[in-house]
Amino acid sequence: MLVHVQNLLNGEQLKHFRQRLEAPEAPWVDGRVTAGHQGVHVKQNQQIAEGSVVSAELGGIVLAALERLPLFISAALPNQVYPPMFNRYENGMHFGSHVDGSVRLIPNNGVKMRTDLSATLFLSPPENYDGGELMVEDTYGTQSIKLAAGDMVLYPASSLHRVTPVTRGVRVACFFWVQSMVRDDCQRALLFDLDNAIQRLTATGADDAARVHLTGCYHNLLRMWSDI
Ligand code: NI
Repeated sequence: MLVHVQNLLNGEQLKHFRQRLEAPEAPWVDGRVTAGHQGVHVKQNQQIAEGSVVSAELGGIVLAALERLPLFISAALPNQVYPPMFNRYENGMHFGSHVDGSVRLIPNNGVKMRTDLSATLFLSPPENYDGGELMVEDTYGTQSIKLAAGDMVLYPASSLHRVTPVTRGVRVACFFWVQSMVRDDCQRALLFDLDNAIQRLTATGADDAARVHLTGCYHNLLRMWSDI
């Protein structure tokens, strides 16, 4: 399941992000520092040093925005969110086909988390660069994703994906992983669909008793499938 989250960050926040990330002192390093065995051969980009002040500050803003967003909660059913990271592609930089590492150590506390979902939050307006599409191999074929600045895509961390070469301009994005309460993508997609239907029944004032039963089904499925 691919989920498009619109306007996670507003114009004011994006301006602040760009100022901080484009500042001469911003600690950009070779992206291969966090790549695994598979990624190190195909990854060619830059990222902000993990544990830096700017990474912690901007990452905190992203996490706060996620917490306020019912769509993210409903789609991801988050248990753990990896501290957001930031990357940059320019001058032909790209990231070849790979699957994200399945288990990561959270840098600030050493806790292990499973990566169920990958997230990319676009920070550069799409008209500012050519290329830089995120290509995700989905059940229905390969999806090409290039979103407005401030928009985010959530996709299964188990899927093969790549970023095409940036041939003009600069593509800056934020990325992170989520360990979901429900590890299976199909089960999570079904719960998301059910939740959306229940929300719609609530909004349209449909049969209340039936809605209560459906809500019960939702929670009982979540109880059955969650591994917290
Ligand atoms: Ni990746």
